[in-house]
Amino acid sequence: MTSGVALIAELEPTAARLLERHLATSKEWFPHQLVPWSQGRDFEPDYAWSPDDVQLSTEVRSALFVNLLTEDNLPYYFRTIERMFGADTAWGTWARRWTAEEGRHSIVIRDYLTVTRAIDPVQLERARMAQVECGEVPEPETPHDGFAYVALQELATRIAHHNTGKLLSDKAGNDIMRKVASDENRHYLFYRDLVTAALEVDPSGMVIAIERQVRTFEMPGTGILDFETHAKAIARAGIYDFAVHHDQILVPVVLRHWGIESLEGLTPEAEMARDALVKRIGRIGKAGRRFVARRDEQLLAAV
Ligand SMILES: [Fe+2]
Ligand SMILES: [Fe+2]
Repeated sequence: MTSGVALIAELEPTAARLLERHLATSKEWFPHQLVPWSQGRDFEPDYAWSPDDVQLSTEVRSALFVNLLTEDNLPYYFRTIERMFGADTAWGTWARRWTAEEGRHSIVIRDYLTVTRAIDPVQLERARMAQVECGEVPEPETPHDGFAYVALQELATRIAHHNTGKLLSDKAGNDIMRKVASDENRHYLFYRDLVTAALEVDPSGMVIAIERQVRTFEMPGTGILDFETHAKAIARAGIYDFAVHHDQILVPVVLRHWGIESLEGLTPEAEMARDALVKRIGRIGKAGRRFVARRDEQLLAAV
């Protein structure tokens, strides 16, 4: 198995190439141009938010709440990422660029939510304080694990933003979530292709790490106040659930793109990890289908 330090060094030219591609495909954009400021007005000192301020389902409100608090917290991942990748070379440039982009996501979503009054601003600010203060940041054991986790996390975040945006009825909201999701897509592509390169350098080490990360995967919103309740609401709305996780992440990326099942020359430990991984993906798929069937039944019963 390749050590983490050796893997980082070996993949530096790949990181440089992927960073260049990221920059070449990124188009500069500005939060202030997307926010519908004309809908805004001052908050009176005795203002108390009410869900009647804007027509929006509980589920979509939960998704916006979790999506924003996730974005608020992401820049604090910087310490972990810089420690893992190093501050120099293309790795450091990427970590700083990524952090700046994640910061822009929270700026645009917060401004949108403040102007439209979609969420209680007091609850939101208290939750942001709690979220950042609790310091919930993933600490992957190895760079192998770090690569696998961020690839899955960026894609999960892209899907969550995209699906939330589709459920908003105003054009500004649709545009904002689509813009943020397109950034997440580029983050995902960077990490997805980094994992592909890492699989060539150290297939056994990467398979073991991917298995561990799929087994323990948690959305980056973990740690948010009442996360479980919000996650359930998000799943109810089909924004992010087991079926989405299986059909849009695990199968197309882990099985198809990374071709886990057809890797050759794995160590016995990696073979066992691969076996467990493929079985787990099958189980998650089954759970996802069961969940969707139950949800459809409940929806039908409610009509
Ligand atoms: Fe983001
Ligand atoms: Fe991202």
